[in-house]
Amino acid sequence: MVNDSELSDVLAVIQQRTGLSFRSDQRQSIQRTLSLLMQRLGITRSADFIAEIQKNAKIYDELVDEITVGETYFFREPKQFDFIRHQIIPELRSRRGDSTILRAWSAACASGEEAYSLAILCQQEKQHLDVLGTDLSVESIAKARRASYREWSFRGGAMSQVANHLMQTHASKHSECYELSKQVRRHVRFQILNLATDQYPNPSVGIGNFDLILCRNVLIYFRRETIDAIASRLYECLVPGGWLITASGDPSLIHASNFTPVTTPYGTFYQRPNVKTAAQLSTTGGTQPASRTSVRSPAAKSQAPAAEPAKSADTPASPSPPQTPMHTRVMAEARQSLAAGDYAAAVRLTENHLQHPDACVVHVRSQAHLDAAAALQTCSQALISHPLATELHYLRARLLMDANELDEAARTIGRALFLDRSDVMSQFLAGSIQFGRGQWKVAYRHFETVLKLCNQQDPQALIPFSKQNTAAVTAAAAESQMTKIRALLAKTP
Ligand SMILES: C[S@@+](CC[C@H](N)C(=O)[O-])C[C@H]1O[C@@H](n2cnc3c(N)ncnc32)[C@H](O)[C@@H]1O
Repeated sequence: MVNDSELSDVLAVIQQRTGLSFRSDQRQSIQRTLSLLMQRLGITRSADFIAEIQKNAKIYDELVDEITVGETYFFREPKQFDFIRHQIIPELRSRRGDSTILRAWSAACASGEEAYSLAILCQQEKQHLDVLGTDLSVESIAKARRASYREWSFRGGAMSQVANHLMQTHASKHSECYELSKQVRRHVRFQILNLATDQYPNPSVGIGNFDLILCRNVLIYFRRETIDAIASRLYECLVPGGWLITASGDPSLIHASNFTPVTTPYGTFYQRPNVKTAAQLSTTGGTQPASRTSVRSPAAKSQAPAAEPAKSADTPASPSPPQTPMHTRVMAEARQSLAAGDYAAAVRLTENHLQHPDACVVHVRSQAHLDAAAALQTCSQALISHPLATELHYLRARLLMDANELDEAARTIGRALFLDRSDVMSQFLAGSIQFGRGQWKVAYRHFETVLKLCNQQDPQALIPFSKQNTAAVTAAAAESQMTKIRALLAKTP
């Protein structure tokens, strides 16, 4: 049996690598686990064992698996699932439409019951869903991926109430195990992740922009400073208005990060405060964020015209479904078709992918060459689902300008600039629209901004949203517009 000081040495290593801290009442069982593992490996000295776990990932994983508690079951704390069913999903649909995808993360999912409970609930509610389940334990994640459960996973009343029905609908029984159906499994993916590290948010690998995070029954294992750091990172992983649900026995996060605690009949949960979206702006006709108390002060990136609204530093990226390899392939092909002038092919390739803003952009750009009115309609429709996609606002404004609807074009480009005032092409288009409306001085300020923005870049840098224009070419075009306006103003009494 390892002695107390040897145990402390090993725990210090684990704490350093996982962030986990252990209560005194857990020490005895960990001591037993450790002794058994060392015995099995034929190691007698704790120093040798520490050296072994430092160099042998398999043994380290095994140790962590042994001492982390993977206790979980389907629909654990059913009230929390009621909250998702009766509040989160209806709210999301009213904001983003019935076809929206709920993006959720089961952080510290153990063997996956929590993530699959969410998938089953969404199937019942006919709610599109994409769930990520993560855990520190390699063994648990492997089990989650197998999606095969014994009856014990349905304890806690779930089996007696709804699980029988659920299992008839969503699983098939093979000897002692219930295997979840493909329909439930295909919306859930799993990966290893240590919550105590700063590997998240990382939207490029799908860890970010979540509408909902379940992080239950794990925070109890961390020290306060680690809990606070995890809470801040989880906050950053949510879209504005997104929810974090912790277990009722978890430490409070009221003083951690910027969450707003919300008490509901289902329990107290944490919400990332909302900001007014571009879609809401379009219904009110306003241009400023709803409340300066819930958003950080604007980061002035450039000297945009005084009349233009400031972008909030809190303005989020447009939440969109994760990019599957298939989506990436389709998009590469569609972009190639667009570049080659095969607009019909690009429209065809993207038409079933309009849940992704990048597909909408290629679709609208291609359609504009074939039927401008239809492209304008598609673009307006796409903006309902993707109100924060700057390029879609930009394209809509261009289509409106081409259709000579200059006032609506001006409002639309205002929204693009609200989202990104340092976007060169939006500034350029705003200048062109204002020029068309006879607002020469306003137009001049936009072109002046274009010039400043281009001069801050490498002259050969390509300008986003343009047809491969460089900063130098765009700057020259802006200068030429400014010369034209100066001449017009000189002639005007
Ligand atoms: C009690 S289970 C919670 C399962 C599920 N969330 C629930 O509430 O039913 C705790 C899980 O936290 C995981 N865990 C412990 N430390 C972790 C860490 N640093 N990062 C990620 N997961 C961790 C454990 O492996 C274990 O699977």
